[in-house]
Amino acid sequence: MNLSEEEPLQRLIWLRDRLHYHNHCYHQRDDPEIPDAEYDQLFAELLALEGQYPQWITPDSPSQRVGAAPVNRFAPVQHGVPMLSLDNLFREGDLREFDRRVREGLGHQEGIVYVAEPKLDGVAVSLLYRQGFLQRAATRGDGQVGEDVTAQLRTIAVIPQQLGGKGEIPGVLEVRGEVYMPLAGFEQWNEAARQRGEKPFANPRNAAAGSLRQLDAKITAERPLRFFCHGLGHWAEGAMPDNHDAILQQLQAWRLPVCDLWERVVGVEGCWDYYRRMEARREQLPYEIDGVVYKVNNRAERQRLGFVARSPRWAAAHKFPAQEVSTLLLGVDFQVGRSGVLTPVARLQPVQVGGVMVANATLHNFQELSRKDVRLGDTVMVRRAGDVIPEIVGVVQARRPPEAVAIALPQACPVCGALVVQMPGEVAARCAGGLACPAQRRERIKHFVSRRAMDIEGMGDKLVDLLVQTALVVDVADIFFLAEHRQQLCTLERLGEKSVDNLLLAIETAKQRHLGQFLFALGIREVGESIAQNLARHFRSLEQLLVADEEALEGVADVGPVVAAHIRQFFQESHNRAVIQRLMTIANTQWQRMPAAETPLENRPLAGKTVVLTGTLHTLTRQEAKARLEGLGAKVSGSVSQRTFFLVVGEEAGSKRQRGEALGIRLLTEADLLSLLDTGNVPADWEQNAVS
Ligand code: IVH
Repeated sequence: MNLSEEEPLQRLIWLRDRLHYHNHCYHQRDDPEIPDAEYDQLFAELLALEGQYPQWITPDSPSQRVGAAPVNRFAPVQHGVPMLSLDNLFREGDLREFDRRVREGLGHQEGIVYVAEPKLDGVAVSLLYRQGFLQRAATRGDGQVGEDVTAQLRTIAVIPQQLGGKGEIPGVLEVRGEVYMPLAGFEQWNEAARQRGEKPFANPRNAAAGSLRQLDAKITAERPLRFFCHGLGHWAEGAMPDNHDAILQQLQAWRLPVCDLWERVVGVEGCWDYYRRMEARREQLPYEIDGVVYKVNNRAERQRLGFVARSPRWAAAHKFPAQEVSTLLLGVDFQVGRSGVLTPVARLQPVQVGGVMVANATLHNFQELSRKDVRLGDTVMVRRAGDVIPEIVGVVQARRPPEAVAIALPQACPVCGALVVQMPGEVAARCAGGLACPAQRRERIKHFVSRRAMDIEGMGDKLVDLLVQTALVVDVADIFFLAEHRQQLCTLERLGEKSVDNLLLAIETAKQRHLGQFLFALGIREVGESIAQNLARHFRSLEQLLVADEEALEGVADVGPVVAAHIRQFFQESHNRAVIQRLMTIANTQWQRMPAAETPLENRPLAGKTVVLTGTLHTLTRQEAKARLEGLGAKVSGSVSQRTFFLVVGEEAGSKRQRGEALGIRLLTEADLLSLLDTGNVPADWEQNAVS
């Protein structure tokens, strides 16, 4: 070897060593130390070097193996057909190169038919069905030998224990796919873990892997796991279709879950188009995908293309921009929430995460910050997925500079200077300033107007900041008196007459929110949307709730002593009482009492009836009328037919009125409508008129 080759060889040995180490962290400890994107980079560098110096490829090189050898706590399973990995594509050019190789391999054919699928970010498993019964499930392991996780997989409800449905099932059928944890389940699980002061999962894939690798399957059963299949291992005593698209359809017909986002695409343009569409949809999906997979559709063509060491030549994974990347932690600020909870927020060296620039990320709470041992100057891993706020998932310990500084919990609230307290048994640290703290006041108002609460459109964070700063809004009741300050509103920065009118209209509309939404909007500790609904259904009116004692409160579904105490405290607090008293004086609101609507759907007065609105109404907007009619159980339709139960005719009603008259449909004036909405009484003789 000459001198100039020594350096690349050193690098190659180093890369192999690092990749072995990171494989071990990822596959055996379920605790990766570096982001996937960084792993992919090291791997790509290894492949490039080995391409240049093929004489240095060793059989144990990470490029020749899939994952890591199984941990020997579970029984080993030898895969009849190896479970391979996929080559990664990162750029459009890589995709074109992949397609070119496929075409070349198939004798310069044009317009290759591929099946494109999402690349699910989970754990690869193999399911073996004999005579249609699930007999054994295994992880991928090193591709040759995996782990027996039959007991664990049997706890996943969507995996059929027995295949059924249409089509003759081969006597032996090995199905391959991905076990994953949906994002909602992952977030919920992590939030609960944080509340218990336990270590949350770094990402949904780790969560799925960690949940499968539980020797006690009862633990696996508690985790929100799902499964999608995306192919076959081997099969015998029966036939399978020749094309992958038909195989997916067949698997689905046997009641195996198949992700319905797959498509048959033609040529490189079809692949590229699919990639871009999936990238745009990625954020809306209820589970995490880290790219798309292209697979040659036809089995005979696949056979002609064959395999390289660890992956097929007929398939490839086209990765999306990483959702987990590393960057420098520049500082940590503490934000004060509506109940005074201090949340540490990391200020980061701006970095692209999943295609979006990120400069701030949450550290959730101080306990987690300490547990992760995050220090100023550290390189941290940042994760961002869906509409969830970016978070710090860990520190890259290997890159900690000696001068990194530990972070202390502030003694005083950074906004109002009140004492910071930590209640025994509580994970959160809080500002003791209560509503004297401007941050708490502002955050309460933001919560009150937010979409899932009172849903006041146009009242975004910036406007709330402005309204609080100018003291136009001091507490949530002030919002409903803003119309008295129209002039002053119009002078506010960025608020023209038109937007003020829209805002005031949105506030009017918010008076229609029902009791459940209203109670949620108040922001009582531990009272989420579902408990707020339960309270509304149980007490049926604000007055009743205000006088309820803890015993009565504990009679409500999901309300235990702790929540009951929070509710009582909230309503006893003098400031809260004053605000609620004012809110109760506001006319024409829906939140004081439960509308008849909250009785079970089928018992509502207009259940099963279709009604139509036409013309202009004066006391209600169309949306309000529709919402309130729906509250009474009606379906509000846009067109008049024989099935229309009644037609509300506002001013200047036109052709719908004529059609209604012609069909003999009952016509209601606006006054009739209002009295119906107020009383919820549908006269019995109305039934005779319309065909229901
Ligand atoms: S096909 C030989 N399709 O990605 C081809 N794999 O690096 C076998 N994965 O471990 C894989 N979504 O578990 C295929 N739609 C999909 C996939 C998918 C996720 C995983 C798979 C494998 C890894 C390949």
